[in-house]
Amino acid sequence: MKTLISAVVCAAALVSAPAFASKDLATAKGCLACHSQGTDMKIGPGYQAVAKKYAGQKDAEAKLAAFIKAGTPAGTKPSWGGPMPMPAQPGLSDADAKTLAAWVLGGAK
Ligand code: HEC
Repeated sequence: MKTLISAVVCAAALVSAPAFASKDLATAKGCLACHSQGTDMKIGPGYQAVAKKYAGQKDAEAKLAAFIKAGTPAGTKPSWGGPMPMPAQPGLSDADAKTLAAWVLGGAK
């Protein structure tokens, strides 16, 4: 009986756990070391500046998710005028890249 109760409690905890907030994900993945959530340039562009650049483009989320994983394509000059290209993020899953792309496009709140 005790086992059953703890199993139920565990299941409830899992279901009610808040979704991993995107900002926490960005922090955990090191994105915010190079990016601000505002419009200012750090090493890379602030996420609100990115959201503005891509506003109204319907394929923006997929495009950004791919960019986030791959970084600035080799041989391309950084278009944002920062000191370096964005490095690839090989440890990032496709799902996390999509979550972060959507969060950035939504203004990174
Ligand atoms: C080492 C610094 C660094 C880290 C870490 C980093 N970025 Fe970047 N990021 C950059 C730079 C620099 C650019 C500008 C690239 C360019 O101009 O080509 C950029 C550009 C971007 C852009 C804009 C792309 C575009 O097409 O305009 C997005 C979105 C982005 N980064 C998201 C992320 C996310 C999400 C993470 C974390 C998983 C991350 N970055 C981690 C440096 C970084």
